[in-house]
Amino acid sequence: MEQRKVILSGVTPSGILTIGHLTGALTNWVKLQNEYDCYYMIADLHAITAKQTPAELRKRTLDTAAMFIASGIDPVNSTLFIQSHVPEHSQLTWVLNTFTGMGECSRMTQFKDKSRQHSENINVGLFTYPVLMAADILLYQADLVPVGEDQKQHLELTRNLAQRFNHNYSDTFKVPEPYIPEIGARIMSLQEPEKKMSKSDPIQGSIIFLTDTDEQIVGKIKRAVTDSGSEVIFDEENKPGVANLMTLYHIATGKSMSEIESEFAGKGYGDFKSQVGDSVAEFISPIRDRYNELIANKDELAKILISGGEKARHTALRTLRKVYKKVGFVQF
Ligand code: TYM
Repeated sequence: MEQRKVILSGVTPSGILTIGHLTGALTNWVKLQNEYDCYYMIADLHAITAKQTPAELRKRTLDTAAMFIASGIDPVNSTLFIQSHVPEHSQLTWVLNTFTGMGECSRMTQFKDKSRQHSENINVGLFTYPVLMAADILLYQADLVPVGEDQKQHLELTRNLAQRFNHNYSDTFKVPEPYIPEIGARIMSLQEPEKKMSKSDPIQGSIIFLTDTDEQIVGKIKRAVTDSGSEVIFDEENKPGVANLMTLYHIATGKSMSEIESEFAGKGYGDFKSQVGDSVAEFISPIRDRYNELIANKDELAKILISGGEKARHTALRTLRKVYKKVGFVQF
């Protein structure tokens, strides 16, 4: 039987998931899951690079797994697991750290942004976070990594590290390709549309959480910052607020940007926002309902994650053994 190509991707459980996680990542995970051998991970090792409350982290980890399934991931065909259950991630990170330049990590935009946001806690883990991400991907010999726009630079580093290691020793790692959707790869804040919508944004009205009620979604979209003027046209540079709402409307309804422009020609932002609000609420509500059912059954989630962790470990260990051998560690 022909070996299926491999996907690995993950979400950091540092908050409630947003509509950006859906459009940048989860929707594509679902789309690709029947064609590829998929590993979908809850990146709890990544989460602790920012301060976490232990009980909260435990809860968010399970909530994130439930959200994966609620979004349409089939836990029978895809491998769902918790990163810290597979110690090989930390072990490979150490080896890859010795192949990564300080300059390479210093150039990472996300490191620079997060250092600015959390100037009281610029820890070494935050610095080497992209190397852990490379280890996540390379352990599974992933061909494809479906992510949003903000992860592109980390993927480039992953490819460089894979090529460097392969060149220094011999072919060991598959060099992965990013998979970034054309629309929805960067959903913006509803309040500051020049900034990415982020689960850790302190302005709650800027985020659509996948757990929001219909009323909350409609209200947040009604209060979203639009731009001067009154025309609904797709212009990301000059009308980032309207362009963001059009993107959300496209995602919820499948309508193209030109169809949306004609639909709202001659109408004001008020009509537009109310239609976007209703459509997005309708789009999110089945996911939220399914999620609420799933988190009520923690035993079932635990079973899925235990078996996923075992399967992931089996694959990860195979790669780590090769790496240890190549770098010269004694193996008895
Ligand atoms: P995280 O948890 O920040 O985000 C998870 C995924 O969602 C995408 N995303 C968005 N897409 C569009 N618009 C947005 N506003 C938006 N916000 C988030 C992200 O691009 C990402 O694809 N370090 C990663 C998790 C990770 C990972 C990995 C991913 C750890 N190891 C290996 C891929 C492969 C992170 O913190 O993503």
